Amino acid sequence: MVLEAIKYEHGSLQILDQLRLPYTTHYDTIYSSTDAWHAIRDMRTRGAPAIAIVAALSLAVELTNTKLSSISEEVNIFIIEKLEYLVTSRPTAVNLADAAKKLKVVVGEAVKREGMTGEGVREAYGKAAEQMLVDDVADNEGIGKHGAEWIVRNAGLGEEVSVLTHCNTGSLATAGYGTALGVIRSLHANKQLKQAYCTETRPYNQGSRLTAFELVHDEIPATLITDSMAAALLKLKGPSEKIAAIIVGADRVAANGDTANKIGTYSLAIIAKHHGVKFLVAAPRTTIDLTTASGDDIVIEERPGREVSFIRGPKYDGVTLDRAAVETIAIAAEGIDIWNPAFDVTPAALIDGIITEIGVAEKGSDGKFNFEKLFEVEATD
Ligand code: MRU
Repeated sequence: MVLEAIKYEHGSLQILDQLRLPYTTHYDTIYSSTDAWHAIRDMRTRGAPAIAIVAALSLAVELTNTKLSSISEEVNIFIIEKLEYLVTSRPTAVNLADAAKKLKVVVGEAVKREGMTGEGVREAYGKAAEQMLVDDVADNEGIGKHGAEWIVRNAGLGEEVSVLTHCNTGSLATAGYGTALGVIRSLHANKQLKQAYCTETRPYNQGSRLTAFELVHDEIPATLITDSMAAALLKLKGPSEKIAAIIVGADRVAANGDTANKIGTYSLAIIAKHHGVKFLVAAPRTTIDLTTASGDDIVIEERPGREVSFIRGPKYDGVTLDRAAVETIAIAAEGIDIWNPAFDVTPAALIDGIITEIGVAEKGSDGKFNFEKLFEVEATD
């Protein structure tokens, strides 16, 4: 079985319901941007790149299956409204806003072409949205390659390395292969991986439900820990099996390198610094947001308290797991106030490198990231 978060064919989109994983593999059909908005908000589909691609493709499907105006400008307005609506589904990941911005430019340019029809605008939109799906997999393979090379070169620990990751950044969070998990896949494929450790990732358990699922599926040697075990693991494993790096994904990298990612990332970066372990962020260049100066300017999504106070899973009677019967269990005292930020910001000072599809950005002698070089390449591509 190929792990696919997104199944797309022209005019048809399905998403793997990630709230039911790892117990049940169930695909939801997405007919429209409204369906996608709810799937993203409810986190049936999640992960910064996947959110952007599902949003873009949902509108491509809606446009294919809707009777549109023949007037190009009217279709343009329809598309802009839908994109602006989709962007409101989740605020922190830049990929969604970035995809919407790029798609608006594509349709804006199409409208200006001589004799352009409504159908022509729809086609231009669909082509650009479909390309995003293709580009994401290629970007992730590039991230995997550069990240694996950097770790082996910089860790200085011989041929095989162990790494720790957080949340889910794999095939389930992207169009395929993954970012931080792509680096782990690449290390494993090169026979350079000793052990991958993944955190449970409270409160929504993307690590234990999704990353562990991907690691088992791909037969990558891996160990699951709870978030609170990371410091003890780093202390215990040196020097016998030193963890060479902690690698995480990103929802938004600000212009100064501050990085928003799944809640708990910041604590891991502090732990890494204390233990002299490299701390790496793996993300496509589209996650670097030069219009956001620093982490202070990133909007952090706060989610319902019930995601902290309840857990969901299949019924278990102590012997048998009934995968079809989902149970919700309260795990907190009723009436307690709950704070549930979905992300935190790791200061650039704690980050050793940002792995992108074209190479690893490191800080200069001034201790600052300079992302300009990364984007100069785009200009000459
Ligand atoms: O709330 P989620 O599950 O969408 O959060 C996902 C993360 O924080 C990932 O680490 C990030 O989006 C990068 S995914 C390649």
